[in-house]
Amino acid sequence: YKFFLPFFWPKKNRLLQLSYLGVGLCLLAERVLNMLIPLQLGRIVSLLSQSNGIKKEYSDKNTEAIPNRELLIIAGLQFLCSSGGIPVARKYLWLLLENSSYIGISTAAFEKIMSLSGDFHDGRHPDKSWESINRGLSVRYSFRTILFQILPLIIDLLLDMSMLCIIFGANMALITAAVIATFLWSSWKILSLRQERKKKLIADQEKEQSILRESTSNWRTAVCFNRASYERSQYRSALMNKTNASVSLCKYIYLESVIQSSLLIAGVMGTCFLVLCSGTQGDQTVGGLVVLLGYWAQLAGPLRFFASGLQNVRFELINAEELISLMKEAPSVVDVLHAMPLMLEEGVVRFRDVSFSYDGPRRVLHRLNFKAVGGSKTAIVGEAGAGKSTILQLILRLYDSTDGKITIDGQNIREVTQESLRANIGIVPQNPTLSHGTILENIKQASAFATDEQVYEACKAVALHDRFLALADGYQSLVGEGEVDLSQEELRRIAFARVIVKNPKIVLLDEPKREIERKAEESIQANLDKFCAGRTTIVVSHQLSTVTNAQKIFVVRNGKIVEHGSHNLLLKTGGHYSQMWSQQ
Ligand SMILES: Nc1ncnc2c1ncn2[C@@H]1O[C@H](COP(=O)(O)OP(=O)(O)OP(=O)(O)O)[C@@H](O)[C@H]1O
Ligand SMILES: [Mg+2]
Repeated sequence: YKFFLPFFWPKKNRLLQLSYLGVGLCLLAERVLNMLIPLQLGRIVSLLSQSNGIKKEYSDKNTEAIPNRELLIIAGLQFLCSSGGIPVARKYLWLLLENSSYIGISTAAFEKIMSLSGDFHDGRHPDKSWESINRGLSVRYSFRTILFQILPLIIDLLLDMSMLCIIFGANMALITAAVIATFLWSSWKILSLRQERKKKLIADQEKEQSILRESTSNWRTAVCFNRASYERSQYRSALMNKTNASVSLCKYIYLESVIQSSLLIAGVMGTCFLVLCSGTQGDQTVGGLVVLLGYWAQLAGPLRFFASGLQNVRFELINAEELISLMKEAPSVVDVLHAMPLMLEEGVVRFRDVSFSYDGPRRVLHRLNFKAVGGSKTAIVGEAGAGKSTILQLILRLYDSTDGKITIDGQNIREVTQESLRANIGIVPQNPTLSHGTILENIKQASAFATDEQVYEACKAVALHDRFLALADGYQSLVGEGEVDLSQEELRRIAFARVIVKNPKIVLLDEPKREIERKAEESIQANLDKFCAGRTTIVVSHQLSTVTNAQKIFVVRNGKIVEHGSHNLLLKTGGHYSQMWSQQ
């Protein structure tokens, strides 16, 4: 709870801070009303029975004997205590507070995820993070349960016990306390037993859902291998398990109801019997019985939910632990204290003894040294898994190198701000992705200031403009899951259009493994070469044909540079490069 408390305190909003005061006052007023109502009821009954009953008074038309004032008071108290009275004000104020904490926690969690580096995102599916956050957010219900269910019940119990002690003596209070303690103890025990059944039910539900999903989504395989009847029997058996687990759970729920009702009735009857036997006579006994019944009626509802409320709080706290550990994750790539913006001149990128490992023991790059000359094209070629994409990710600081340093125009990239570094670099990644949104929005992601015209020009350069105009909604067509389908090649060209729109000094191109449409490639290559001219371009490729014009080519093998030189020089050397060349 300590971790979440700051989110529940609206530091900058005085009005919300005052809402806490309002909630507190409401809670206090509700407790007082809960105590007063049974007392007032008892008082009315005593008054009525003192004047020998309502019936007689009405028949004699003696309206003075009707306790009008007392009745009005109880009506007022009942209204204030009803769900339309003070609780409405309390719930409204709490809603405002809860929403503010919800926004606070969600935003902090979002910021945290976005600030974490590649190592965090590699090992975790985004859905998993959001699942932890959503589950963790249920912590706000715990606050609600504690504030409005558990705490009030405890206060009500203490107040009612004190009142019973004052009105009927200590024995009555002790007996009531004993009954309530037995009630709570038995509820807690049954709840623990229920929990086991509930876990089984959840597991069975998940199994049933997973069979349903898997079987229907693998319909083709099921039909081709004549597995339909087998799948059906699997599904049926999962359904049976689920319904059996549900019956088993319900048995405990019903048992709990039986025990709770028996204990409550025993408590009410026992204490009433005590009042009747207490020796007090006539009107006082009737009034006393009404007070007693009033207290029992008031406690019965909250008592039934006390154990489950506590259990929920326990689960919500367990769920919140995952969120807390997520929020405590520290990003591995951070700006150093007083980091300066990158001052770009020629755009010379240099690796000095750079080593890197994703997960500790296995080194992906070993003491890498190379220089990409400013304003010219440098190529890095090598087999699959050689570490080419890793090199580009290190330049962008998606990870920090384990050893050595990377400089741009002599400035260590660890010592400049991440924002300025990335603002000067454009990358066409190996596997570009699109966000759900329009084509225009997707390309404009590259620059907050991009105009529609700039996007059109960029798309013309990558030969996509006509393709997009041919779509029913043109550039406003939605892309992403379930929307306009784009090929891998088109995705790459969009990624390139983003770089053109961004207009950076340093361009990183991570070529895909598979051969892309050569004809299309040729038609846009001239435009891309024109764009890259004068910029530091580092191209990573399998296809040697795209790098022949690079000023310098570095051949990477198992994370080490094994050869370097121009295309012609490397061919003459007769090493790995010339081997790769002859194989293509
Ligand atoms: N996120 C990661 N976590 C752990 N290991 C990784 C990760 N990404 C890549 N690797 C490993 O690092 C090595 C280098 O990967 P990298 O993607 O840089 O190779 P590549 O040369 O770009 O290969 P390809 O030509 O197939 O794209 C590979 O062995 C790969 O399995
Ligand atoms: Mg790669």
